[in-house]
Amino acid sequence: MYNIVMNYHITTFGCQMNVHESEKLAGILERQGFLPCENIEDADIIVFNTCAIREGAQDRAVGNIGALKGLKKKFPNKIIAVCGCMTQQSQVADRLQRTFPFIDIIFGTKNFDKFEEFIKKVQIERENNKKIRILEIEQEDKIVEDLPIVRSSGKNFWVNIIYGCNNFCSYCIVPYVRGRERSREREAILSEIEEILKNNREKIKITLLGQNVNSYGKDRYQDYGFANLLEDICKLEGDFELGFMTSHPKDITDDVIHQIATQPKIVKELHLPVQSGSNKILKAMNRKYTVESYLEKVEKLRALVPNIRLTTDIIVGFPGETEEDFKQTCNLVERVGYSGIFGFMFSPREGTVAAKMENQIPLEIKNKRVNILLNLEKEIQKKLA
Ligand code: SAH
Ligand code: SF4
Ligand code: F3S
Repeated sequence: MYNIVMNYHITTFGCQMNVHESEKLAGILERQGFLPCENIEDADIIVFNTCAIREGAQDRAVGNIGALKGLKKKFPNKIIAVCGCMTQQSQVADRLQRTFPFIDIIFGTKNFDKFEEFIKKVQIERENNKKIRILEIEQEDKIVEDLPIVRSSGKNFWVNIIYGCNNFCSYCIVPYVRGRERSREREAILSEIEEILKNNREKIKITLLGQNVNSYGKDRYQDYGFANLLEDICKLEGDFELGFMTSHPKDITDDVIHQIATQPKIVKELHLPVQSGSNKILKAMNRKYTVESYLEKVEKLRALVPNIRLTTDIIVGFPGETEEDFKQTCNLVERVGYSGIFGFMFSPREGTVAAKMENQIPLEIKNKRVNILLNLEKEIQKKLA
């Protein structure tokens, strides 16, 4: 039987980093001649780019993958691939492979440049009437440059500047699935942006991506950091706005604040996740700042950039969080007056320190607290409007 594979479909879970990496997966697929299609049922290659940040994110991916069982039975020639942060955990990848015999390819966050090779292997084996299943996860950290990118977010252009994370917040899986911090070369970043600007003459938004953009350069240069990079990007000719995410509050420097204040191209909004308003919880989270030092940065920002819109992430129900701790979080939220709050219920992640802590908080309490937080956000919005 001869089968020409033509269409692909990618389902993406998780953060902007993953959305952008799916643009690279699309680039790899289109380089091989595949075309995108709207419906998953019509695709010859079906890809799931997964997230592991909370149990819910992981369960959603597993549910979506499981739902393909019937389709694959009817059309065994479809190729099903799963990658991303979830599969980077080897025990989870093994479990997926055992549970879903119809998955053909499993790879992780550090070897998606090998996607093309994996597909070819599966195709060659099929032509020989053999079935192979690939499970290849890489642990070594590296930077892959020059992957083709199919940009798919309209006027929003994502540009990675740093991969990985060194912070090991005690609740977070990211350092385990994304490895240590590694900055891209500034020349590679600047030429990627120049290329985007050359091809898009109308006004666009460029968003720099990293788990902690304020660490940019530390692993690569002696005296060239995030503030220098912002300055160099703003010098580029073109009609664009510049944003970035995410900033760890402990690492945002006066130089970066100065750039936000003085560069007209930088958008006057900043996502500065505080996570909790209780010093006890912040310490247990290993965030390495206090409520006081956080507020100092906020005041500095507001003094220099009076119209700045601040947004935050908050985790409720971290192990040991009392009513009093939660009240302190609500107080902080009101005091800062965020323009947007992303509230999450603490989700224990296998392998992290917080998952093993005592005093885990029951689901009902987490639920109650997250609802209180959402109502608080609505009230703040009313006031700001
Ligand atoms: N690098 C970014 C965050 C990436 S994860 C930063 O440091 O700000 C995005 C958000 O998910 C985090 O800010 C946190 O609020 C939330 N999060 C991370 N791990 C979590 C967990 N185990 N349970 C609940 N929320 C979590
Ligand atoms: Fe996770 Fe903390 Fe790193 Fe953000 S800074 S990715 S929350 S470990
Ligand atoms: Fe999820 Fe990975 Fe992003 S765990 S939030 S997709 S870095």
